[in-house]
Amino acid sequence: MDLALYYINLVAYTSIAGMFLFFIVKKRKTHPFEQSSWEKMEKKCAKLILTNKNIKRVSGIMLEEIEMGLRQKSNKNADIKCYPTYVRNLPNGKEKGKFLALDLGGTNFRVLLIQLGETAPEKEFVSREFPLPDLIRTSSGEALFDHIAECLALFVKEFKVDKEIIPLGFTFSFPCRQEGLTKAKLVQWTKGFTCSEVEGRDVAELLQNAIHKRKDVHIKIMAVLNDTTGTLMSSAYKQPNCKIGLIIGTGTNACYVEKIENMELLDGDSDDSNQCIVNTEWGAFGDNGSLDFIRTDFDRALDSVTSNRGKQLYEKMISGKYLGEIVRRVLVSLAKDGLIFKDSSYKCLLEADKFKTKLISEIEKKPENDFTDCECILEELGLTDFTHEDCAKVRYVCQLVSRRAAFMAAAGVATLINKINEKHVVVAVDGTVYRLHPHFRHLMEQKIKQLIRPGLSFELILSEDGSGRGAALVAAVADRMKREEIYRNLLKKVFL
Ligand code: GLC
Repeated sequence: MDLALYYINLVAYTSIAGMFLFFIVKKRKTHPFEQSSWEKMEKKCAKLILTNKNIKRVSGIMLEEIEMGLRQKSNKNADIKCYPTYVRNLPNGKEKGKFLALDLGGTNFRVLLIQLGETAPEKEFVSREFPLPDLIRTSSGEALFDHIAECLALFVKEFKVDKEIIPLGFTFSFPCRQEGLTKAKLVQWTKGFTCSEVEGRDVAELLQNAIHKRKDVHIKIMAVLNDTTGTLMSSAYKQPNCKIGLIIGTGTNACYVEKIENMELLDGDSDDSNQCIVNTEWGAFGDNGSLDFIRTDFDRALDSVTSNRGKQLYEKMISGKYLGEIVRRVLVSLAKDGLIFKDSSYKCLLEADKFKTKLISEIEKKPENDFTDCECILEELGLTDFTHEDCAKVRYVCQLVSRRAAFMAAAGVATLINKINEKHVVVAVDGTVYRLHPHFRHLMEQKIKQLIRPGLSFELILSEDGSGRGAALVAAVADRMKREEIYRNLLKKVFL
């Protein structure tokens, strides 16, 4: 009897245990894939995570490259060329008159008309944005400058200033070797521009010729500058501690105020100011292989299909022209390994540039568990049958790519702050990535704090439309300096 009871109990307990086991296995069976696929995904993306040690190393190498760039002897071998801008005088409020600005450097270009006066620094301000079709960005230099001159003419006619001679500041946001404020030879195109017969030539001259050819407007180019310089100038107008101009948009670059004694490349300029803005063109950092220790297969694959292969490697890890494309490449690679999007609809992501950088910001804007926007985005891209887990993975990849970009940019800014070595430095920032991404600024601030020398402090300020307004200001300062010079010469003639 006891034995029978023992067997009955044994059977009962075994079946209960069996049932438990069955449920556990069954439950696990719906998730084991997810569990291991998260881990596999993390492993595959691990190189996109920058350790503090690596970020410090990036900052250290960047400092060496900047020092090399500033020196005559080593400039040839430096990735960071540190071009002198010939912008040495900041606005002093005595600028007056109407000034035009032309801002060229991305997918659109803008024209602005600013009226500076004695009482208010910027009394009047009108602007127009003109699209720059792909066809023009990749055609000939002549077509590009003729198109710009035509839009300029339309603009001055619209605002009825076509009969006046108006000084123009030309923001040309590409690497240029400047030989003066109005002479800037394009070194090489970046950001997908490939117009023929511009590299090696003076872009101020090309634009001035295109304007003259039309004979219907009278515009005088007073200055050519980089967008970073415009950004710095327009903020320095209000904040004297502003010593760095930074762009994180379609491309990335920074300029900063350097002491003349450190600038061996600056010559032939009679100005007596003891400082000069240096356009670092830091986008080219890493072109000699110095960033290979952190570049991933995704970065290499992306670079291999760009029009400037092997060039602008730092920029290709940070800026808006590339971030979305990196995310797309990571997602495709994960999908091919069966780690995300289990149906074949992921193939819609095989098209280059399909995942725009602005989507990263849209996805990261929502709280962790809110997938509504992500679902809409994936649907619009053409994906079907995706799960919440897929959305979480897409978000994870976006975060990795944008964090890496923010930390890389932070390493650059910290390097400049340490180099300037002043107690408090204001950094004027502009660019769509910085402006639209919900955490970019915070991530950068956090990292810069960790990287700067103790005792130094900084502040990032947004400089909206600095590259446009800055160009008008540079033209205005150049105009004022010229008028002052004429006045000085006149006085000399009268009194000597
Ligand atoms: C690219 C250009 C640079 C510009 C930057 C931001 O890096 O080479 O001149 O400042 O983009 O627009």
